[in-house]
Amino acid sequence: MGVVENSKLTVVGAGAVGSSLAYAALIRESAAEVALYDIAAEKVEAEVLDLAHGTQFTRSRVTGGADPAVVEGSHVIVVTAGAKQLPGQSRMDLAATNVGILEQLMPTLLERAPGAVIVLVTNPVDVLTVAAQRITGLPPERVFGSGTVLDTSRLRWLLAERAGVSTSSVHANIVGEHGDTEFPLWSEARIGPVPILDWAGGECFTSDALDGIAHQVRDAAYTVIRGKGATNYAIGLTGARIVEAVLRDEHAVLPVSTVHGPEIPELEGVALSLPSVVDGEGARPIIGTPLSERERGQLVASADAIRAAAGALGY
Ligand code: 2OP
Repeated sequence: MGVVENSKLTVVGAGAVGSSLAYAALIRESAAEVALYDIAAEKVEAEVLDLAHGTQFTRSRVTGGADPAVVEGSHVIVVTAGAKQLPGQSRMDLAATNVGILEQLMPTLLERAPGAVIVLVTNPVDVLTVAAQRITGLPPERVFGSGTVLDTSRLRWLLAERAGVSTSSVHANIVGEHGDTEFPLWSEARIGPVPILDWAGGECFTSDALDGIAHQVRDAAYTVIRGKGATNYAIGLTGARIVEAVLRDEHAVLPVSTVHGPEIPELEGVALSLPSVVDGEGARPIIGTPLSERERGQLVASADAIRAAAGALGY
């Protein structure tokens, strides 16, 4: 697919996640201009230079620096700025610090690019999505989180490896919190047209095997952080993919995190991931995703955890 003319993505935060996201966006040519913004001038200037040195090999252009004017003209802004998990920490442990950063940052972003769609990536992403929506007062579709798009990619990879099919032929989603209460929607999971439990005559995915896979997905970030201190590549690709859905006005269905209205009363006012339509206006959850009784309970438990964490910070 060609680069969308005049499209501008700004990535806020030049740490491991932000620079990997910008790099993925350059390689995928997700936007005509990829800008990187951070308050740490030396770091962001070095990252921009390093990325710009590859300009010969992409049709995307790189800009950036520590001046908030970098953000001007953005159609999409992806926020990755903030503290990251240390080994042994959960995403929720970052809530107070990262909400504090958002309170400083959001008014600047809104002032510089009042029409942009804003995508939160910083953790705990669901809590930050609630806070960002309240701080900006933007319509919920205009400010949403990367949510469980990454976890869903992890899930599809594991299922595809086990079944011996391509990841694009696996239809399954992780929903809820991007964190410890997330869960797979097994009741709707399929490989091609076959319900997951029936694949290979029911011998490939026993309920024990599915439990193990759900567990592996939930613990995936902890495993990577233990080994290398951070996760960056897969979230970089995930962010670039979400940006494309917005800039290309794709109406793509992705499990991003949005602040929910009253359609499911237990979710009202909380941001969490459900399959959503992502396009040039932002993201809206699909109404009517089928949920088993158990899954509905899991979704409410996830909402309760996010509401408690956001509430403790005044959101
Ligand atoms: C991840 O899931 C840490 O949220 C980050 O990779």
